[in-house]
Amino acid sequence: MSIILGIESSCDECSASVVRYTPRGPIKVLSVSTFSQIKLHQPFGGVVPEVASRNHLETINPMIDAALAQAENPKLDAIAVTNRPGLVGALLVGVTAAKAMAYVLDIPLVPVHHLEGHAASVFLDSDVPLAFPMCLAIVSGGHTNLYIVKTPPELWPPDFLKRSLVGRSRDDAAGEAFDKTAKLLGFPYPGGSWIDRSSKGGNPDAFPFPRALPQKATLDFSFSGLKTAVSLTVEKLKKEGQIDSHLADLCASIQEAIVGALISKMGLAIREHHCRSLAIVGGVAANSRLRSKIEEEWQKWGLETAPLFPPLSYCTDNAAMIAAAGAFRFRQGHFLRGRALQTLNAIANPEI
Ligand code: KG4
Ligand code: ZN
Repeated sequence: MSIILGIESSCDECSASVVRYTPRGPIKVLSVSTFSQIKLHQPFGGVVPEVASRNHLETINPMIDAALAQAENPKLDAIAVTNRPGLVGALLVGVTAAKAMAYVLDIPLVPVHHLEGHAASVFLDSDVPLAFPMCLAIVSGGHTNLYIVKTPPELWPPDFLKRSLVGRSRDDAAGEAFDKTAKLLGFPYPGGSWIDRSSKGGNPDAFPFPRALPQKATLDFSFSGLKTAVSLTVEKLKKEGQIDSHLADLCASIQEAIVGALISKMGLAIREHHCRSLAIVGGVAANSRLRSKIEEEWQKWGLETAPLFPPLSYCTDNAAMIAAAGAFRFRQGHFLRGRALQTLNAIANPEI
């Protein structure tokens, strides 16, 4: 059994968490403390890197203190920190705090790839047995990636993310497509949940927005054409003074285009790779239409169990998932300690 402190500061959430890892058992989350910077960035319509890193500096210590206190100040076996990819100034805050703590406590430090954290979120507080191969979709503001996960996380190779990736967005991420089209409609950042709420009662077929890359051969996505199509439609409706009366239809149609593209590629990946289970994580996993459509479709795909949507607090950026990914890598011996800690850096765009 190991007790791991996780630290996440790669974008606009500052988070610390303590988890308990037992080999082959579920990962028990003992505490999570997260500060979301959304309100700070809202006036700018998106995340401002300098604002993010300055705020992380103010909140990192209180988050770590709160997570340790909530977990009743346990003896830590290791610290895990997101060191890639992300905003480099924001990453550096978490990495520096983690290095200092690991050095002073003389315990191992595990560098974690943020997306490996999202992948590990599937195993938090869950004793649902997952059948492999599993199709894993990470659908967030920054990524729309499909992975085929063939083994439990203790056996993930160092290049797991590269090796398991079967599909990704060639331009905007799904969350970004929600946010950019929501902005065109005048909603605040981040706009995904606004489109979700405002689509209620709207007709999803009112505007036939393009579904990118519908051809069977690829598991990749593309959402930039949708943004252009929505922009032209919004301009036209504004000129005609028709935008308000069509808002629900517009939201429902945008959502349908994004969700439709996600679902068709997930179904294709599951069939092509003979997947036995499906997990969907990332902020877009909160989308109500995505959830209800998956509910309608999954039995047709031959899955053995109902698709897994971890609780939203584990889907959006959080340190519990970083601690979990760190626990798996710690067990494999991937960590730094003592003077070697000096070599760890934050990396904005790693190769994998
Ligand atoms: O995973 P996340 O919190 O942050 C990143 O790592 O990017 O995802 C944030 C994204 C935003 O683009 C946001 O608009 C989207 O998730 N989102 C939603 C919903 N809730 C959040 N998109 C569609 N429907 C929602 N209900
Ligand atoms: Zn993320």
